[in-house]
Amino acid sequence: MFDVLVIGSGPAGYVAAIKASQYGLKTACIEKSINHNGKLQLGGTCLNVGCIPSKALLDSSYKYIEALNHFSNHGIDVSKPEINLSKMMERKNEVVNQLTSGVAHLFKINKVTPILGEAKILDSSQVEVSFEGKTEIIKTKNVIIATGSEPISIPVAPIDNNIVDSEGALKFTEVPKKIAIIGAGVIGLELGSIWARLGSEVTLIEVTDEFLPMVDRKIARDLLRELKTQGLSIKLGCEVTKTKSKSKGVAVFYREKEEIKKLEVNKLIIAVGRRPLTKGLIDNKCKVSFDEHGFVKVNKFCETSIKKIWAIGDAVRGPMLAHKASEEGVMVVDQIVGQSTEINYDQIPSVIYTHPEVAWVGKNEKDLSDAGINYKSGIFSFRANARALASGDTKGFVKILADNKTGYVLGMHVLGPSAADILQQGVIAMGLSATVKDLSSFIFSHPTVSEALHEASLAVNGNAIHVSNKKR
Ligand code: FAD
Ligand code: NAI
Repeated sequence: MFDVLVIGSGPAGYVAAIKASQYGLKTACIEKSINHNGKLQLGGTCLNVGCIPSKALLDSSYKYIEALNHFSNHGIDVSKPEINLSKMMERKNEVVNQLTSGVAHLFKINKVTPILGEAKILDSSQVEVSFEGKTEIIKTKNVIIATGSEPISIPVAPIDNNIVDSEGALKFTEVPKKIAIIGAGVIGLELGSIWARLGSEVTLIEVTDEFLPMVDRKIARDLLRELKTQGLSIKLGCEVTKTKSKSKGVAVFYREKEEIKKLEVNKLIIAVGRRPLTKGLIDNKCKVSFDEHGFVKVNKFCETSIKKIWAIGDAVRGPMLAHKASEEGVMVVDQIVGQSTEINYDQIPSVIYTHPEVAWVGKNEKDLSDAGINYKSGIFSFRANARALASGDTKGFVKILADNKTGYVLGMHVLGPSAADILQQGVIAMGLSATVKDLSSFIFSHPTVSEALHEASLAVNGNAIHVSNKKR
């Protein structure tokens, strides 16, 4: 009998399992994925086919761009760099292996029992696990559902050799000459950036008229312009009506305004969102509730409609992000041992790892206007930041939104170098209910890109130092 049985070993499940074991609870984690040797593969989407491999390729491809276009600006002359894609992929796989075996090691030292197989919940105290035709029933006091998500597929473009999802697009064995991507969301932009940097001609076909509707409007406009200069063709308000897969490529037909257009590409990537992976997970007799999209219904503590069955991560409402998934894992285990941890869902940071990078937390200007909240904003450009100038990476800005009366930080939006890391300071500020005055009272190291945040906090009240009077 286990105290806690976690289903799924992604960032939600493996963190929950380790945390439970750290509390002294007898814990097991069931995972159905196997690697090429037929062995248990821990880490979920994030480590195996999501956050980590995509960031490894984003970093490798950006190093190539730096060598190709930027080294000479720094007085470094190199002969034309060449891409060794198989080595780049090998390196990506090594990073993945290092992290997934790291999870296995953490399970070992924390005494979490890994179980290979597909889980089905019979009730809050019994889970059936099947592997290679064998089935066993495992008893437990608590079940945590952490089964994650899978890519949404669309009927007009079924997956095959040339039509792939995000997993397939992280495994190309040669750089495709032409790529189309359906969906200009987070995955579309990150994968599009990787392959455009490596030399593919990339076209993104996005159904909505607005580019990145959840992002600050100025950041979305500036990023769109910048990505176009990087060779990404982004077609907004276009709908794919038909695809025809051939031996060497795909013909993509899409509607732009009222006209049907045709695009011939070598590879087509589908990146139109993800859906929870919960089908067949619960026995019919067990009455866990789902919403209309297949997400497990939970309260703010991630408790399902059945006591002692919890659900976290991509399988439940909220942003599909690894850090949100992990924090829910910690919160649920805290609940199980009787501690009252809560997540502030309004302060979950988001990042898009393009170059320049995009990061935001809290409210944007539209949210605040819609809610009738009186706010003031401070903006500071990286063009006036010494460190950004020294490294030659000056595109973008930091924007801080604060309550007009109290000065409390309500949102932060960054486009530019190390945006995700700069933003983290805003996350902490908001978490501690800081005002912009608090933020600007801290001493920031010089020269750092974080000084742009310092200046933006001063700019909220018109006090930034490194701006001309006119701009102020
Ligand atoms: P998952 O990581 O999906 O793990 C669920 C696990 O459960 C899987 O291993 C699955 O095999 C297992 N499982 C499912 N059903 C069963 C069953 N019945 N029995 C046993 N095991 C089962 N997020 C970020 O925050 N930052 C990023 O940079 C980022 N980049 C991404 C890039 C890509 C290309 C993709 C696809 C996603 C990215 N994400 C990113 C999203 C992130 O990967 C997910 O939010 C995160 O993995 C969710 O964690 P999870 O533990 O809920 O689910
Ligand atoms: P997404 O929701 O970010 O973007 C999907 C895009 O496809 C949207 O713009 C949508 O309008 C468009 N779309 C939907 N149907 C379409 C159609 N038929 N034709 C054309 N366009 C269509 O989802 P995405 O990019 O698939 O990512 C899934 C999840 O993974 C996201 O929720 C994201 O949070 C997470 N993720 C996070 C990353 C990060 O944190 N940096 C990186 C990658 C993924």
